[in-house]
Amino acid sequence: MTGNKHLSVLVAGSANLDFVVRASHVPAPGETVLGHDMATYPGGKGANQALACARAGGAATRMLLALGDDAHAEPIEQSLRAAGVDLSIRRSDRATGTAFICVSDSGENAITVAPGANAALRGDDLPALDGVSWLLLQLETPLDAVQAWAQRARAAGVKVALNAAPAHALPAGLLDCVDLLIVNEGELAALTGIADDLDAAVAAVQVPQLIVTLGANGCLARIDGQRLRQDAFAVEAVDTTAAGDTFCGALIAALAGGAAPAAALRRASAASALACTRPGAQTSVPTHAEVEALLHTADRRVVAGPASAPAT
Ligand code: RIB
Repeated sequence: MTGNKHLSVLVAGSANLDFVVRASHVPAPGETVLGHDMATYPGGKGANQALACARAGGAATRMLLALGDDAHAEPIEQSLRAAGVDLSIRRSDRATGTAFICVSDSGENAITVAPGANAALRGDDLPALDGVSWLLLQLETPLDAVQAWAQRARAAGVKVALNAAPAHALPAGLLDCVDLLIVNEGELAALTGIADDLDAAVAAVQVPQLIVTLGANGCLARIDGQRLRQDAFAVEAVDTTAAGDTFCGALIAALAGGAAPAAALRRASAASALACTRPGAQTSVPTHAEVEALLHTADRRVVAGPASAPAT
């Protein structure tokens, strides 16, 4: 790992064991679909982001999470530790969080989360922030805890990134502490109440840095008043689960490592694209070397020009 161990990222959030079934399509309400064999993967938005940050390199990664005292906790713990994430675990008498995911043949998914132990996390569970440069949060843990963590980080001079997923309206007290907000279009609509006008929705969010992920259309960012746009890297999508989490983790790793916003967006987009090419959540997150390889390939294509350009 290329890393500056003096700059650490702390992720506080959820960890789930994902129960995944592939089917021709995601069932509509009231519909039953016969799928393939079930598989389990370590997941949870917080844990996926922590793992993506650690695999990206650039910063040491720590995570606050809650797990039950049960068999579902072990694969999650193992996956995070193997990636080098330093864990602060609150043990709960509630079951480890679980997610039930249907992935369609086109790679899209529908997810239902049973939060379990994630719901036991409290504002005062946040570990000491010494040496932490970024705190990365999501919304799969209680909102009052997320707000308390953001407030504590703000007071300590630690930058706060919030991935407002799953979609939820946010209290002003939380947004006031956020330096960087990362949302997809649906989450942005839930936040602003503006569903059909992307520019108006972007303008309505009062945070210093905003990134809106747009799936196959890449992402756009408003960073301290400057607008940036990053195209998506074209890949064959097998499973989009954790693509957004990979984007967030890789982005914060790059920013914590000192990358400029445009370079961090490009790196995060490459990592996210690679995550779509493999099944599962944490199992799909690419390493630093894999992201480097994709970036180099893309650079070579730009230098060489379009392969199908007619000879003159
Ligand atoms: O973002 C993907 C994640 O959402 C899954 O791993 C699942 O656990 C849910 O939290």
